[in-house]
Amino acid sequence: MAAEKSAEQPATMSAEQPVDQSVDQSVERRADQSVERPTGQPVGKPVGKPVPEAVARLAEERVDPRFKALPPDSDGLTVGELAAQRRNLFTGGFTTPVLALSAERLEHNLALMEQYATRHALTFAPHGKTSMAPQLFWRQLEHGAWGITLAVPHQVRVARAFGIRRIFLANELVDAAALRWLAAELDADADFRFICYVDSVRGVQLMDAALRAAGARRRVDVVVELAAGDGARTGARTEAECAAVADAVAATGTLRLVGVAGYEGEVPEPTPERVRTWLRRLVALAAEFDAAGRFGAGPADPADPADPACDIVISAGGSAWFDAVADVFAEIPDLSLPVLKLLRSGAYVSHDDGHYRHLTPFNRVPDEGALHPAFRLWAQVVSRPTPEQAFINAGKRDAAYDLDLPEVQVIRRADGTELPAAGVTLHALSDQHGWLRTGPGVDLQVGDWVGLGLSHPCTSFDKWQLIPLVAADGTVTDYVRTYF
Ligand SMILES: Cc1ncc(COP(=O)(O)O)c(C=O)c1O
Repeated sequence: MAAEKSAEQPATMSAEQPVDQSVDQSVERRADQSVERPTGQPVGKPVGKPVPEAVARLAEERVDPRFKALPPDSDGLTVGELAAQRRNLFTGGFTTPVLALSAERLEHNLALMEQYATRHALTFAPHGKTSMAPQLFWRQLEHGAWGITLAVPHQVRVARAFGIRRIFLANELVDAAALRWLAAELDADADFRFICYVDSVRGVQLMDAALRAAGARRRVDVVVELAAGDGARTGARTEAECAAVADAVAATGTLRLVGVAGYEGEVPEPTPERVRTWLRRLVALAAEFDAAGRFGAGPADPADPADPACDIVISAGGSAWFDAVADVFAEIPDLSLPVLKLLRSGAYVSHDDGHYRHLTPFNRVPDEGALHPAFRLWAQVVSRPTPEQAFINAGKRDAAYDLDLPEVQVIRRADGTELPAAGVTLHALSDQHGWLRTGPGVDLQVGDWVGLGLSHPCTSFDKWQLIPLVAADGTVTDYVRTYF
């Protein structure tokens, strides 16, 4: 059933060669200095808060054909110069297909989840793998986020290159080269807070060996991952296995156990009851570990006696069940140290017109608000061979298709008239084409633009390296750079 699919489950349709997503070399430059965000180039509303120099420097990148859909006559401008021209998405020379991110909807979603986390006393570390856009990481931090969650070492390196100080890696990290880099990064920056999962004794031993070999001075903070059930994804399956992993951590001199975590989005055949039952197991595990004195075992930096014992971290929560996380985390009993209740939703940032539209907890708690789908993919009709068929120039390279196919929402004529796309459905995607079926009497012509809603934020962001941020009147106010 679509509503029960994991947002990370493998694609059901055949994926073909991805577009070139080469990382600009400027990402490697470190970002220790802060500067004011340049006016005229804000991502969303200007907030005037300092952002790291590396983020501000994104405006200096040159526009060229690497970036899909940007106006050909903007080649050679910097991104900042192009943004300052405030071109119109429909009349400013953009080529199709073009993905647009709504400035107002993005801002709405950022503000709504900030309010939600505050209202429910949750600390927020939004999952950054959704957008891999440092500008959006900083907007999330400006909207109260404690830090950024990530999934793999490359993503941590991107976040560090853009000045992110608190990172929660929701994965076990057993890559010796990445651990060597991490050890150096931690030792070089006392303000860098890093936490990752452990879910096996072998994983702990591999981490310990790699950190010893790297000569790590600071210990690495870890949380034991409890699996979301039998047959679920990663995580130790039982409380006894979690305890064995915790014992293994205690036997190292390189790791420090600071909490427990898991991902309720992987609870098999989820229902509100099953998800809450698993979340209660997670909380009980934290209480049991705390009673056994397993947490906060000394400073992260043995060379620094002033470094405090840390809080206990209890973490769960994607974008499908944060209402259950809020409810169950509200029941967490007093523990021996303050508890960091860490929520990790990521897909909320753009929300969507499919998978998350069905799954969002706001469907269950409408009084708390509603997320707004912020992406619209614009494509052009390039062929209308029969009255029943039309083909647009957007395909798998441009649109998410792993959970649902795009939804045809609107037809836009060259004169700017917009019509509802009643009777038009997209039923298949090729690499560079979308297959439309048109009902009787649908007036769809070659040259028309078609606006599509997408399903699954993660696989929408990753197909675009520079995404126009578009105000409701069509003005492109900024460009969001992604690093996949
Ligand atoms: C471990 C983990 N935490 C958090 C999230 C964020 O969930 P969502 O994408 O529903 O916001 C994911 C997403 O796959 C995840 O795998």
